[in-house]
Amino acid sequence: MELRRLRADEGLAYRAVRLRALETDPGAYGQTLDEARADPEQTWLDLATAVADEWGPRAMFVVDRGDGDLAGTLYAAIRRSDPYSCQLGAMWVDPDLRATGWADALMETALAWAAGNGAPFVTLWHRLGNERAGRFYERHGFQQSGVLDDPGEAMELYRAL
Ligand SMILES: CC(C)(COP(=O)(O)OP(=O)(O)OC[C@H]1O[C@@H](n2cnc3c(N)ncnc32)[C@H](O)[C@@H]1OP(=O)(O)O)[C@@H](O)C(=O)NCCC(=O)NCCS
Repeated sequence: MELRRLRADEGLAYRAVRLRALETDPGAYGQTLDEARADPEQTWLDLATAVADEWGPRAMFVVDRGDGDLAGTLYAAIRRSDPYSCQLGAMWVDPDLRATGWADALMETALAWAAGNGAPFVTLWHRLGNERAGRFYERHGFQQSGVLDDPGEAMELYRAL
């Protein structure tokens, strides 16, 4: 088992783990399983290429059980606009890896990457009612910004680096 960045040729492996996350935890994300299934194959291939670029502004951290079987994800994207920050998303670990520290390892790796890229703070969207994720983010130092998304279903959280 290892934590590493998604590789450029793993677009379809990422698609598989993302569909599993949406199937296992349908209420956790702003995207539905049907929406993700409808995305053309090229979208997943392009995403993997983009996040694998070591010098690019985006990264996808994954937990690999071995042989490319992905069991955890966390996406990070530097926003070079004002305010300069890093947005996190797609936080997920397989149910059998919960409460084992793998989610902590993903978060710590992404925070270190964001800090290394000069971001003064990170943000993410937390869907209201997802108590386990809320406690997880609180433990990692996140606070509510008070900003709700458009349908009013998710609250923006932030953390200074
Ligand atoms: C959110 C997630 C990444 C957290 O990882 P994890 O390994 O489960 O984290 P932990 O086991 O440390 O649990 C986090 C906290 O929730 C608590 N918790 C456990 N089960 C809980 C439950 N059913 N309800 C509420 N809190 C719960 C834990 O005790 C822990 O609290 P603490 O930090 O005060 O000790 C993981 O649960 C997950 O992938 N969930 C599904 C996807 C998801 O919700 N992603 C977030 C999208 S915004």
